[in-house]
Amino acid sequence: MTIRGLTFAASLALGVSTLALAAFASEPTVVPEPPPFPAQGKITFVPRDSILEFKKLTSYQEPAWVTQKYVKTGKLPPVAERLPEEPMVFKTGNMPDGIGVYGDTMRHVIGGRPEGWNYSAGQTQGWGGIDIAMSECLTRTAPLYQVEAKDMEPLPNLAKSWTWSKDGHKLTMNLVKGAKWSDGVPFTAEDVMFYWDDNVIDPNVTPLNGATRETFGEGTELKKVDDYTVEWTFKDAFPKQYLYAMAYGTFCPGPAHVLKPQHPKYSKNTYDQYRNAFPPEYMNMPVMGAWVPVEYRPDDIIVLRRNPYYWKVDEKGHQLPYIDELHYKLSTWADRDVQAIAGSGDFSNLEQPENFVESLKRAASETAPARLAFGPRIVGYNLRMNFSANGWGDPDARMQAVRELNRNEDFRKAITMALDRKKLGESLVKGPFTAIYPGGISSGSSYYDRQSTVYYPFDLEGAKALLAKAGLKDTDGDGIVNYPKTIMNGADVEIVLLFTSDYTTDKSLAEGIVGQMEKLGIRVVLNALDGVKRDATQAGGRFDWMIRRNDQELTAVVQNTFQLAPTGPQTSPHHRAGKDGKVDIMPYEKEMVDTVNAFIRSSDNDERAKLMKQYQKLATSHVDTVGLTEYPGALIINKRFSNVPPGAPIFMFNWAEDTVLRERLFVAADKQGDYELFKDQLPGKPGTKGLLN
Ligand code: GLA
Repeated sequence: MTIRGLTFAASLALGVSTLALAAFASEPTVVPEPPPFPAQGKITFVPRDSILEFKKLTSYQEPAWVTQKYVKTGKLPPVAERLPEEPMVFKTGNMPDGIGVYGDTMRHVIGGRPEGWNYSAGQTQGWGGIDIAMSECLTRTAPLYQVEAKDMEPLPNLAKSWTWSKDGHKLTMNLVKGAKWSDGVPFTAEDVMFYWDDNVIDPNVTPLNGATRETFGEGTELKKVDDYTVEWTFKDAFPKQYLYAMAYGTFCPGPAHVLKPQHPKYSKNTYDQYRNAFPPEYMNMPVMGAWVPVEYRPDDIIVLRRNPYYWKVDEKGHQLPYIDELHYKLSTWADRDVQAIAGSGDFSNLEQPENFVESLKRAASETAPARLAFGPRIVGYNLRMNFSANGWGDPDARMQAVRELNRNEDFRKAITMALDRKKLGESLVKGPFTAIYPGGISSGSSYYDRQSTVYYPFDLEGAKALLAKAGLKDTDGDGIVNYPKTIMNGADVEIVLLFTSDYTTDKSLAEGIVGQMEKLGIRVVLNALDGVKRDATQAGGRFDWMIRRNDQELTAVVQNTFQLAPTGPQTSPHHRAGKDGKVDIMPYEKEMVDTVNAFIRSSDNDERAKLMKQYQKLATSHVDTVGLTEYPGALIINKRFSNVPPGAPIFMFNWAEDTVLRERLFVAADKQGDYELFKDQLPGKPGTKGLLN
């Protein structure tokens, strides 16, 4: 491939002198074309309003055993009384196999472990979509992957409709009226306000996915109008982008009636006690989601049963979900692939390339229990450098010295140029899967623009020259470059790389980086932590470098957008405020922040596309993050499930556990398995063990 002409154009566009750069290092180029890898399963794009509506139906239905065992005995009110005035109705036309039947289990396998059920105070439930099964949010974005571009706007959910004021500064949201938590307590504006006032706004609480006021715009206010109406006030006019922040995972309120009494504002608890008030052993946590946790056995399984108050139905009035039970086997992420392929699990996001070849081989057989379909190239990894030089995470002298290096653009360019990405990718899997990824927006994203993606090609000698320019030379001849005498007493440059040991891929990449950096003369020491500790270490700023799988801001772009740059004191994954509460932002980062904020403010599609090109150029030319590799992922689902939307990507606006709309999945009567552990039983009272008998 010839890239000379492009090289020159790219350098000009960047305002870099081609000659000056060529004197010591390769020129930046446009990123090489990724090897073609067609996504399987064609997506049929549909109008936004063809998926669901809110409507009163003439009659409702539920599983026969619920009526027999619970309603007829007076343990539960009739289904019509448990549903809202106007439940959410999924339209049959959008359901690939139509109206379903009740029963069976979806068997998930995960590598995470539950910290507890206080999602609002930042506890993880172990990922893999448990929290998605339990929590409902004001809006929903996962199904948008199939919505026509002209119609793009989050779908209603707990907020069934909304209207903007004339001047666009106020947004009135109508909550679904008469919906109830899984223990029968009404869901109201109180729940929404408790989440906002005492979790999002309270500086002592950080909800699981890090929502702060800034997530919804600086200075944004929210207030209750009545039990079923809340009103947002924004500084900007018509900031429609925030509707995406009201979806998973930044605006999914918890049950105020059980959380509030434990919150320090309303009790004698400390904030730690509040966070830990609902440990994994606490059963029957009230949820708005389709399933309720009823059983937990450490390192073994979490079982969830259908929520008898779930507020969504099909067009025939069947209360959803169709599936009665969910299993979450507590194992490893790699085992999730193995079990889904073997048929002892039902679902996996095949996202670790180390498992691709074996999985493909087994899925190809006629008798394979699961179907496997690859989607776009949207799983990406970046090496992120800690850019805070003003105290985030309380660095010691060594950490501080590394951060000064991280802030030096020549240093970052040296690191990126010393990475042989082809080799890194091939160490995960051979074949057309992995692509050279310099960083920035994912090539599978609709906002991706290849011509705006600047790539510093692999050039070890050039990288060494750049290190020397940054003042780093091997003065003691041990193969590792030293700081100048005035810094760290001229010690070897040693960098600690944080990553999670939960995934094989993160580990393979970390080990690859150690080897490649050694060739450059940088010593990288590994800090492998489980996912929960890794997240805490990152949030606390206690890292030099870290490896992170990309989140939605780099795939959907419209989701988690504020995380694309240090738009607020706590928004960037790798650059947060120091002790004075301020981010010591670098000039190009300021440009990124302005670009991202302009994107968030704009409703003009052409302008937004242009702004994201600008963002991509800034992010990749200044090496804001060091891209490592990117590749497609495949959705594996057992063949007995119906209503699996074709082409559902494992990750885009959200993970596939949300994208496939599990509440609509069903298993045909003649295909149902015998996996239920709590057949014909419903969740019990919050905090009690066992079920409702
Ligand atoms: C983990 C898994 C993903 C997905 C998400 C859902 O991150 O690696 O594949 O299941 O959980 O939250």
